[in-house]
Amino acid sequence: MNIKDIVLQGYTDRVTSPDGAMGLEAAQVCRMDAYDPALLRQVPKDIIDRDYGCGNPSKYAQAGDVALDLGSGSGKICYILAQIVGPQGHVIGVDMNKDMLALSRSHQKPFGDQLGYSNLRFFWGTIDDLATDLEASEETVSGRSLENLDDYTALQDSLKDQRESNPMIADNSVDLVVSNCVINLVDTDRKLNVLQEIFRVLRPGGRIALSDNVSNIDVPEELKNDPELWVGCYSGVYQEQEFYRVLCDVGFAGLTVKERAGVPEKTIGAVEFQSVTVTAFKPLEAVTSSDMTRVLYKGPWTFVSDDEGNQLHRGKITLVDKTTARQLRHSAFSEHLFFLDDQPGSNGSGCCG
Ligand SMILES: C[S@@+](CC[C@H](N)C(=O)[O-])C[C@H]1O[C@@H](n2cnc3c(N)ncnc32)[C@H](O)[C@@H]1O
Repeated sequence: MNIKDIVLQGYTDRVTSPDGAMGLEAAQVCRMDAYDPALLRQVPKDIIDRDYGCGNPSKYAQAGDVALDLGSGSGKICYILAQIVGPQGHVIGVDMNKDMLALSRSHQKPFGDQLGYSNLRFFWGTIDDLATDLEASEETVSGRSLENLDDYTALQDSLKDQRESNPMIADNSVDLVVSNCVINLVDTDRKLNVLQEIFRVLRPGGRIALSDNVSNIDVPEELKNDPELWVGCYSGVYQEQEFYRVLCDVGFAGLTVKERAGVPEKTIGAVEFQSVTVTAFKPLEAVTSSDMTRVLYKGPWTFVSDDEGNQLHRGKITLVDKTTARQLRHSAFSEHLFFLDDQPGSNGSGCCG
């Protein structure tokens, strides 16, 4: 069973059918979630109609972020992010389905005119390889005739060179990676590549907000072999604790389960499926200065400010001097903060705080 082809066909069926319904019989539509109505009002209707998410990771974005949405689909999360990150920020959507991509791109220009700025870009790519821009690759391949092995080797070298010298998403270039009900759709043996790619493209201190379905126990083989359940966002889900463990193993810190449905959205035999939204961040590689301590404000407010005007922004790593750090650590406010240099693995070796 070729998972990628099945998922491609499944979402082409959805996006091209008049009501956005599934072409595959038993597959379920991923649950929609509540969004800020003011942000939603700006999003074109046919994009909203093709929302197949199971959470709302867009609410973890901040003004000025470079935000990347993996498996952007019709583009709804990107159109919302574009408003949150504002004219100083950028939003990049990546999807492997050309029909989805065409829909997401179709409203870019009028949407930009409506906002008064254009900060959206959509790429054709697979999220387990964020260096390869498939449109650029296709351009390189087209017009070449392969007559012998040397031609083939030369083409391979060109594609490799393109990935390395002009990657679709560069290392350490993104502030926030979001994804909404997509990681489950990636073939089991490529899932880890997705998480490693997220880690690669995030700048140190950059954040993730991932919404996805998870299961209470490992999904049994017979469900994994069901194409409709794959497309419906069930067969390929991580077992919940395994999802959190793998994120920690990849190196993310401060993993927090922000939302958890609590009750299963679907039960098949003993397997219960529900959606979760998690946030975490990529640690800084090294302590920037031995006199400073890295502090990360958890929220719930967008930012807080002390009487001197020093600000801590939610999800952003801030360097504070040791005296301030000591005061914060012993204040009633300490539960709202991560003191990153106190945590095991704070040099970036990977630990979920
Ligand atoms: C369940 S829909 C979610 C779409 C969107 N995130 C939303 O919230 O509506 C899954 C999307 O992920 C895309 N997708 C699935 N696997 C992918 C992969 N390996 N690389 C890129 N896109 C992928 C599909 O083409 C589809 O558009």
